Order: sequence, then structure tokens, then C-alpha cells
Amino acid sequence: MHNRHEPGVPREPDRPSVAAVLARVTAFALDGLESRPVTVEVDIRAGLPAFAVVGLADKAVYEARERVRAAVLNSGFDFPQRRITSNLAPAYLRKVGPGFDLAIAVGLLAASGQVPAHAVERWAVFGELSLGGELRPARGTLAVAEGARRLGLDGLVLPGERAAEAALVEGLRVVGAATLREVAEVLAGERPAPPQPTPSPAAAAPTDEADVDLSDVRGHEEPIEALVIAAAGGHHLLMVGPPGTGKTMLARRLPGILPPLSRAEAIEVTRIQSVAGLHAGPALAAARPFRAPHHTISASGLVGGGAIPAPGEATLAHHGVLFLDELSEFARPALEALRQPLEDGQVIVVRGQRASRFPTRFTLVAATNPCPCGFLGDGERCRCAEPEVARYHRRLSGPLIDRIDLLVAVQRPSADELAGPPRSRSAVARERVRAARERQSRRFAGTGVACNARMTARLLREHVPLAPATEAALREAHERSALSARGRQRVLRVARTVADLDGAARVAPNHVLRALSLRQHEPGDTPDARVGARAAA
Ligand SMILES: Nc1ncnc2c1ncn2[C@@H]1O[C@H](COP(=O)(O)OP(=O)(O)O)[C@@H](O)[C@H]1O
Ligand SMILES: [Mg+2]
Repeated sequence: MHNRHEPGVPREPDRPSVAAVLARVTAFALDGLESRPVTVEVDIRAGLPAFAVVGLADKAVYEARERVRAAVLNSGFDFPQRRITSNLAPAYLRKVGPGFDLAIAVGLLAASGQVPAHAVERWAVFGELSLGGELRPARGTLAVAEGARRLGLDGLVLPGERAAEAALVEGLRVVGAATLREVAEVLAGERPAPPQPTPSPAAAAPTDEADVDLSDVRGHEEPIEALVIAAAGGHHLLMVGPPGTGKTMLARRLPGILPPLSRAEAIEVTRIQSVAGLHAGPALAAARPFRAPHHTISASGLVGGGAIPAPGEATLAHHGVLFLDELSEFARPALEALRQPLEDGQVIVVRGQRASRFPTRFTLVAATNPCPCGFLGDGERCRCAEPEVARYHRRLSGPLIDRIDLLVAVQRPSADELAGPPRSRSAVARERVRAARERQSRRFAGTGVACNARMTARLLREHVPLAPATEAALREAHERSALSARGRQRVLRVARTVADLDGAARVAPNHVLRALSLRQHEPGDTPDARVGARAAA
């Protein structure tokens, strides 16, 4: 059994040393949100001076040759004038990005005897090099650190800026360094290794962001309540209303009333952001993601994809909010592509023999005008011809609508409302949401279900038993509006959330009536029919 070796301390080789001309170092390739170990071998032999990198590497990895050459020379090492081959194995795995620079450089120093080969072979090294030999962070540190721990290596050497992120992985020795020379000296035992970095702290929870608070919103009692229900039960929400009435404003206030990220969720969000290159700073992600892709986005931009699978907006919104503003403008294939992530909570991207899995548990919020001109239901202002409106609604009642639990009309606030006091504050809403979520965690403990919106039919039967009066209310709704079986389940899930916000153990008729008033549209039951009905009421 190999003894763990503290860096910065010289040691005797504990196995027959490999031939002086061949060195091995471990690096990692990103594969979706996971990392896969890659052995970087460097072979140096007599021949015309050459430097080749082989093993299904992308352009940035080939370019590593130039960076490695300059970094090695500028760090005061020799660059061997011989035939150098760097092989990245296994060959079938695609190697992407500049994160292999450091491994290739360290392997080269070892193969040329400038660092003892036995000192590097049980280390993972991950980072980009500048021409001057400084280490630069590469994407995906957290995933790489998890991979290094799984392999049981001595530790991971990486750029200092990312050391705290890597140290989130318990039981992994992390060495943060600033330059190639420092890395070489630490591995060779010529310089004491820096102490184990402190893991990233959780950033302060984003409380009371004064500039994004529900107290900015005037009027809109009903839409705000729908927003709270969406937050409390994890329900998807569609807001329909004329332009300039505050739909976008409302959607942006959803993350602020969601409960804070748990530690496990924060680590997952950080890993995703790190792989996507969005993670700055040393702290764990604290805020729930809020992603608002433009309506011109492609299907693969939305759900992930590409020749080398990268996370899409649905994954960047994992544990947070995906906001589709101007829903009717999105291309149909993009919306179609969202069905799987909405249904399964994940996307599988298959490329050749490999499948990458991306998690996609987000709350969907969508906003749209009620008709092409935007003013249907707002007095007499609408100028659209009836067929235009009908066509518009056919587009809207497309692929997503039957996944959305809550539909709310957002009407122009009256002059009195605009001049009046706000109806709510985010701090108050957040506390209601927290209490309702706590009831759900207790209810669903051990089931793998997190919130009411994801109750299966079995959980519904178990947790939403209906008293005869409640059953009667539903039956009446059924007869009035042809409630389908799916529509009924949807109403019951929302009713359960309304009851949770009420602190009620049982779902009562008033909860069901409330849920019905926020009811989803069956196919053919278009948002505008509802907006119209509401305006008329
Ligand atoms: N109900 C409201 N209360 C306060 N301000 C509002 C309200 N509705 C709209 N506004 C103001 O109008 C601006 C535009 O609103 P927005 O949310 O973009 O409307 P929509 O998305 O419905 O077109 C907001 O930034 C805000 O300043
Ligand atoms: Mg808007």
C-alpha cells in the first residue's frame, strides 16, 4: 500500500523508478459536469527536436505546446532539444481546454530529469500556463478536485486562486501555487508546500437586496401571491399581461423569496458555474441562479449540447429560476427541447459512445403578452384581428403550457394602486415560503421528492386526502370546465401548497378553490380565455 506523501518533503522512490525518459502525471478532462482522469505521459528521446501532443486533444490542448515551451524556458528550466511526445490517455476521451498545460509542463520537467519522476506520478495537476510560467485557473476545479479524491492520489496542485474551491472536497490534499517554478520546487521537495487551504466559505446569503424587493411592486396582489405559491411549492408559473405592467419585475423578485441554498445545493451550483466558466471569486455560490436567456436562444443553448457537451441555460438555472420572457417569441424547437428537462429534472446529451448528464431542477417562470399587440383584455385597446389572436394562442398553447401549474393575469395597476403602498415585502414572503417548505420537507422525508410540485400520483393520494366537501368542489369544477385527470392532479398539487402556506394540515375546499383560480390551462383552454374571463369578472 502506498504511503501518503506530504509535499515539500523529499522522499525516496517507493517503487522501481520508471525509465528516466518517460514521466507520468495525472490530469483531468471534463465530461459534462464530471471529470475523468487523464494520464499525461511525456516521452523524450533522441531525434530531431520536435514536440508533439497526441490523444484526441482539441485545439487549445495542441496550443499547450507553445505555452508550455515558453513557460518552461521563462521559468529558468531547460527545454530539451530532442524529440518530445506527450500522450494524453485514454485516447477515446476528448480533451478540451487549456487545463492540461501544467500537467504537460510538469511531465516534461520530470521526463527531462529536472524534477524527480517519482515525485510527480501520484499527483494530479490542473491549470493553464501563461507564457511567463504563471498558473492561471481553468474551468471545472470542483469537478476535478472530486475526481482527484476518487482516485486516491496524494493530492491536487492547481492555481492558488482556485485552491479554496478545491478544498471544498473533504479528504483531498490541495496545493495552490502561483508559478510553474513553485510547483516544480514543491513537488521536488525543495520548498515547503503551502498549508492546506481553508475551504471556500459560503458567501453571505443575499438578504434584503434593496434594489430587487417585492416592495418595489405596486398593486398586483394576485400575481404576488402566485409568485409566493410558485416559490413555496416549486410550481412553474406563467404570467400573461400587457407590456409594462411589471411581469419582468415580478419574475426578477422570485429568487429573493426562495429559501437559501443548502450546502449540498450550493456545492452543486458552484460545480456547474465552475464548469461553465461563470464562477468567479473564492466563495461558494450563495444566491439561487436566475437565468433569463434571450428568446433567440437555440435548443442546445437552452438545454445543453454541442460537439463537446456543455451545460445549457436549463442547467445553469439548476436549483434556481429559469425565466423565459416573451415566451411567444421563443422558437418552437427550443421550447420542445425543454420538455425533457422539465419532466425528468435532467438532460442527457449523447455524443458517440458517451452520455453526459446535466441536472435541470429549476422553477420555470414565463411571461407573455396576451395577444400580438399586447393589449387584449386591457379595456378597448387591443387592435388585433381575431384570427391573429387565435394564431398567437395556438403558438402559446404549445409544448410547455401543460407543464405549467400556475397561470396568472397581470393587469395594468390602477392609478390608485400605483400611488398606494406596496402589498408585500420580500422578507415577509420569504418567511412564508420558508415555513411552507419546512412542512414539505417533513412530509416528504425519505421520498426523494423535495416539494409539492413534484408529488407523484401515489404521493398525492397519500398526502392530499380530500374531505367530501373538497371532493365536491373539485367535481363541480370538473363539470364546469372539463378538468382533465392531469389538470386535477395539478390543481391538487397547487392546493397542497396553498394549504401549506396557510399552515393547514389538510387540504380544505377553500384551498382547492384558490388553486382552481390559479389553474392551468388544458390544451385548448388558452391563456386569453382566462384573462378575458377574469377581466369580465
Ligand atoms: N406594478 C408595478 N409597480 C411598480 N412599478 C411598475 C409596475 N409595473 C411596471 N412598473 C415599472 O415599469 C417598468 C417596466 O415593467 P416590466 O416589469 O418590464 O413590465 P413587463 O415585463 O410587464 O413589460 C418596471 O421596471 C417598473 O419600473
Ligand atoms: Mg417584460
